[in-house]
Amino acid sequence: MKEQRFLRACRGEDVDCTPVWLMRQAGRYMEEYMAIRRRHSFLTMCKTPELATQVTLQPVNRLGVDAAILFADILLPLEGMGIELEFAQNEGPVIHNPVRTEADVDRLKIIEPEEAVPYVLEAVRMVRRELAGRVPLIGFSGAPFTLASYIIEGGGSKAYLDCKKLMWQNPQAWHRLMNKLAQVVVGYLKAQAAAGAQALQVFDSWVGSLSPQDYQEYVLPHSRFVMESMKEAGVPVIHFAHNGATLLELVREAGGDVISLDWRIDLAEARRRLGADVPVQGNLDPAALLAPPEVIRQKVKKILEANQGCPGHIFNLGHGIHKETPVEHVQVMIEAVRQFGCRQE
Ligand code: CP3
Repeated sequence: MKEQRFLRACRGEDVDCTPVWLMRQAGRYMEEYMAIRRRHSFLTMCKTPELATQVTLQPVNRLGVDAAILFADILLPLEGMGIELEFAQNEGPVIHNPVRTEADVDRLKIIEPEEAVPYVLEAVRMVRRELAGRVPLIGFSGAPFTLASYIIEGGGSKAYLDCKKLMWQNPQAWHRLMNKLAQVVVGYLKAQAAAGAQALQVFDSWVGSLSPQDYQEYVLPHSRFVMESMKEAGVPVIHFAHNGATLLELVREAGGDVISLDWRIDLAEARRRLGADVPVQGNLDPAALLAPPEVIRQKVKKILEANQGCPGHIFNLGHGIHKETPVEHVQVMIEAVRQFGCRQE
């Protein structure tokens, strides 16, 4: 049953225990990850299927989570589009040739995943072989808006000023850019599914910076294109709009089989607004994993209670795990999900 929990919950079906995994579950909070990371750059790890596979499996082996997520990054497909990407030490991603004009948009290429990111697809195949059916493998992509925000801003941003400027000053260039990115996202996700990814998550990490009206006009049509196009891939798609409590109904309208929630909204309220039949994922504050074990347990219990035993709940954090998190606290969280989230026979 364990190997089926996660996929059954994605489809809103009955499960023996609420499945659990963590966004960014393979990462710097784990000693096993750091042992490899000290010897290789992050990009080298992503581009070497053996290393990506090894790291993908670490949280599965150490923590017993109900799904693996491929070790990769949302920015990898941008290189093939003509973007010069670097992960600078302690700075996060840096893009050396940001897109600012319509001519810049025109220069971006639509990638062929097998040519542009063969290492990602090889890692998918290798992880599937290594997992041998123990738990399902999740593939992922950035959503068009979040990718656009990186390539316009040239990296992370606080206020998204250049991004919004392009959106409002030159809506035609904006929509051309979003259209290209949406095509890349669909190709990239379909290639991962074809290589063996059994579910896919679309990360719209920075879309919470937009008003509902701007989301509707400048983003929703492109995210909807992605979600509609993915129906033919035949695997569940999780739609994560970080900081998206104010956009919840619009995110549902854009689509996806599962809506992933951050911690800023009560899960019961999200259920009411989405409709009880919409599967949800979430939604513990990742910072809560730095709290004392008893506080973690109480917070896990509250989230499971807010779900009221409805089918279609995947337990997760509301965003990626912090690198300061003690691994033992992640274990406390998972044990609490097992204790409070399993059916009483
Ligand atoms: O969940 C997993 O375990 C799979 C791996 C994964 C990574 N990035 C590995 C990573 C996933 C799903 C991502 C997605 C990703 N990448 C997102 C969407 C998720 C989110 O957090 O909203 C975003 C916005 C990115 C872009 C990105 N990549 C940033 C902003 C950073 C720097 C962040 C930081 O903490 O330094 C990265 C680097 C990155 N991606 C790391 C990892 C493990 C850290 C690399 C390292 O130095 O070891």
